[in-house]
Amino acid sequence: MAPALDRIQEVCEVRAWEKVDPIPRENLFEWLKDAEGLVVTGNIQVDEELLQHAPSLKVIVQSAVGYDNINIEACTRRGILFGNTPGVLVDATADLAFSLLLCSARRIHEGWESVRTGSWHSGCKIPFGIDLAGKTLGIVGMGQIGVAVAKRAKAFGMKIIYYNRNRRSNDNEIGAIYESFHGLLEQSDYVIVLTPLSKETRGLFGREQFKKMKSTAYFINVSRGPVVDTDALLDALRTGEIAYAALDVTDPEPLLGDHPLLTLPNILITPHIGSATIETRTAMAQLTADNLLAGLSGEPLPACVNANEVK
Ligand code: DGY
Repeated sequence: MAPALDRIQEVCEVRAWEKVDPIPRENLFEWLKDAEGLVVTGNIQVDEELLQHAPSLKVIVQSAVGYDNINIEACTRRGILFGNTPGVLVDATADLAFSLLLCSARRIHEGWESVRTGSWHSGCKIPFGIDLAGKTLGIVGMGQIGVAVAKRAKAFGMKIIYYNRNRRSNDNEIGAIYESFHGLLEQSDYVIVLTPLSKETRGLFGREQFKKMKSTAYFINVSRGPVVDTDALLDALRTGEIAYAALDVTDPEPLLGDHPLLTLPNILITPHIGSATIETRTAMAQLTADNLLAGLSGEPLPACVNANEVK
């Protein structure tokens, strides 16, 4: 975003990759020879190899809350701070998660398709949707975004259960009941996945998990694609093991035009737009600039993942 970049350019010499395709690693390595700060996006792997090419780096920042593309331990070992953008994207991402839930429950895009193609006039065959009120929503990953989704679901009269690595201490305040992972899969009419991608959550949803879910269940993923085994999801949707999926994230990402998921009638996919509103992306860009400029001038980062570990 321009104002954030302007602030950075006022005090730094900036090399910016502005093409749509990701920067080739060799170009990036060349740039990193004398760079003190690095702004990355999720499609750049910040690993040992990259860091070896960056002897002067003090700070790396990313305009996202997730940082599964960053080897935090390797950054910490080299004394490099890593800053992300938690907090500012909570409402936008919760809105998107809930939009996917509503749009899939009420089959909005099938309805629009029938209007757009003119079949509305010749006998409508759109499947009926299902109600939200009285249904059970299972939230996997109850961080700030999970809590914001629960707040929205409460207003729609849903029962909310959640699974999280650590049980929260304020279940009553959130209005959600803690469940085991398996219990959540068995009881939920809608499952929303919001967990970060890590060694523990990679492939968390596979054949076994889809089998445990209700055949009427709706599955919504707003976290990271690899949390789900795509082939298992494809089969679960094809065989009717679950009813429907709405995904803002996929594996692979982006999905190519001939991917089998795109041929299914019971799926809705958006192009990773959880935080994509004007206000939220502007706030994320400003926080990214704040993080970078703080790290370059030796000040504490407003949002730092490894501040306590870096000596
Ligand atoms: C995030 O903030 O992690 C979003 O998913 C954008 O990558």
